[in-house]
Amino acid sequence: MLDNRLLFNLASSGYDFITNQGIWRDHVREMATLLSGPAPRRIIDLGCGPGISAFVLAELFPEAEVVGIDISESMIARSNERHSRHFAHLSNLHFLRTDIYELPFAPRSFDLATGHSFLYLLPDQKAALSAIEEILTASGQLILLEPNAQGSLRSATWNAPYHRFPTDPLASTRFALSMILWRVVSGRRGRMTPATLRELFTAAGFGNIHIATTLNGLGLHVSGRLFPSATQGDQSCSCA
Ligand SMILES: C[S@@+](CC[C@H](N)C(=O)[O-])C[C@H]1O[C@@H](n2cnc3c(N)ncnc32)[C@H](O)[C@@H]1O
Repeated sequence: MLDNRLLFNLASSGYDFITNQGIWRDHVREMATLLSGPAPRRIIDLGCGPGISAFVLAELFPEAEVVGIDISESMIARSNERHSRHFAHLSNLHFLRTDIYELPFAPRSFDLATGHSFLYLLPDQKAALSAIEEILTASGQLILLEPNAQGSLRSATWNAPYHRFPTDPLASTRFALSMILWRVVSGRRGRMTPATLRELFTAAGFGNIHIATTLNGLGLHVSGRLFPSATQGDQSCSCA
């Protein structure tokens, strides 16, 4: 199997093409609604790819510093290029090529970590969550979108909202393509269940875990927060 660095270096232009559109950005915004508590001051976007998720976060939280990280040189080059061409006004954002397992940040230096389609790709998810826990402040929050093992393309297609198609057929087509490819790649790399996500989050010290289905059942949103002393919290699930 190709390692992630090589895979996403090779796939960066195609990936950029299908995800640089309004519906994808709307889903990043939807993920941000899971934020609880005070506005974050420092945010890390894990596996930021061509930067779409990080640009949305930097716009949503103009008072915060946002750092997008990715293992792929090509993805970071695209993020930097898009930043200087189209988002130069976002001075609160920068990108860094680094591996989740070698994060060069001080412990307890971010209060929000996000990953839009990231954890499922990693070979050692427990170690990745420990690395994230280490850089988050004592009450820091982690929000992820992951592929749902219980979803199906057939039912997602059946229940899809088609209202955007007449006004934005290109974005709708690109979005449909991104979902098909996500299903194919996640079928090979491994999808998540609510139970797996809860177990991983709890083992890494996150409490207040909330899991909900999204993307017509194809995705799972998961959010958890660290607490100074507790590893348990209110655990809720609104999964299909
Ligand atoms: C599916 S893409 C998601 C991109 C972006 N978040 C978005 O919403 O479009 C996953 C990204 O994770 C990155 N990645 C994979 N393994 C990584 C690792 N070990 N450390 C950092 N980034 C990694 C890949 O290079 C890829 O760009």
